Amino acid sequence: MKTVELNTPIGQSTILVGERLEHLSRYLPVKMPIIITDTNVEKHWGHYFPSGAVITIDTGEGIKTLATAGFLYDKLLALGADRSSFIVGIGGGIVCDIAGFVASTYMRGLRFGFVSTTLLSQVDASVGGKNGVNFGGYKNIVGVFSQPEFVICDHHLLKTLSQREFQSGLAEVVKHGAIADRQLFEYLEENWNRVLEHDPAVIEKVVYDSVMIKSTIVNRDATEQGERRKLNFGHTLGHAIEKVLQVLHGEAISAGMVLAAKLSEKKADLKPQDTARLCDLLEHFQLPVRLEFDRQDVFEAIGKDKKREGARLKFVLLKEIGQAVVTELSIRELEDGLPFDV
Ligand SMILES: NC(=O)c1ccc[n+]([C@@H]2O[C@H](COP(=O)([O-])OP(=O)(O)OC[C@H]3O[C@@H](n4cnc5c(N)ncnc54)[C@H](O)[C@@H]3O)[C@@H](O)[C@H]2O)c1
Ligand SMILES: [Zn+2]
Repeated sequence: MKTVELNTPIGQSTILVGERLEHLSRYLPVKMPIIITDTNVEKHWGHYFPSGAVITIDTGEGIKTLATAGFLYDKLLALGADRSSFIVGIGGGIVCDIAGFVASTYMRGLRFGFVSTTLLSQVDASVGGKNGVNFGGYKNIVGVFSQPEFVICDHHLLKTLSQREFQSGLAEVVKHGAIADRQLFEYLEENWNRVLEHDPAVIEKVVYDSVMIKSTIVNRDATEQGERRKLNFGHTLGHAIEKVLQVLHGEAISAGMVLAAKLSEKKADLKPQDTARLCDLLEHFQLPVRLEFDRQDVFEAIGKDKKREGARLKFVLLKEIGQAVVTELSIRELEDGLPFDV
């Protein structure tokens, strides 16, 4: 097991990579935690949960709402939860986002931790202290910055995840290599087949490297004033594609990264060979490098993106594999810079 410490102005968090769900009680400050999970995770892994109350929510992005938060507040009230209670979210990004939000707002904030059960949440969602829900058609528009005390990343849990969900999480790993770690990118190029075979040592390494990259960036910029924006590489277009096409997050981000790389060739002197390497790696992971979508719908969705400031967008470009830059673009410049066949 390896640990990564996050020390940010908004709190401290310890990420435990390679720790097991079975050892969760070692990290709990109370005997009877309140566990928030979803139906799938409970079905596959509920027998390893420590004793305590379990609140189960449904699955899918549609559940990440204030209504579900309300349902959870009701349950917490019924359980008599108070400031001495401890909440554990055991699940993927959806469970962690909503459990973190509810824990941080109920009675102005209870202590909480996570067990991440998807690759996406291990390498991304549960690192960094962003918790929230969707509202009014906007993703993650209502939320808080608040750190879980610990995050357990247990790769055994990924065994029951569908291959498609697993591959979707790999898009964020590729992103981390592309924006900040050429060595990780090269490691993935050399070991992609071992990743797909779920080789435990390889999974542990890529999860650890990803957590290190994200936490290093978050440690420097906890509330996304500057450098943290680099983590949005592929996401301006990706989020819009995700909304329009109903594909998985990582699939949309994969296509979004390729478009952002093509734009980077024009605006940041990225070499076309580097775009080709990015495409090759994503294709090894069976992630889409091109998705058919309606341009107008996607640009309308970008207009609604909460990261838009005035008519200009902060947009992440690659200078080379392992190095990203944040630039400002108008929506018009973005549209003009994209290849015509999308
Ligand atoms: N807070 C952040 O910084 C951040 C970052 C990235 C993404 N997110 C959010 O994360 C969410 C997506 O997370 P996700 O991809 O983990 O999706 P998810 O939580 O919906 O999990 C995907 C599916 O896998 C199931 N599942 C989870 N763990 C499983 C396991 N071990 N075995 C079998 N099935 C399992 C779930 O029930 C669900 O059906 C989005 O809402 C996104 O906005 C947040
Ligand atoms: Zn993402």
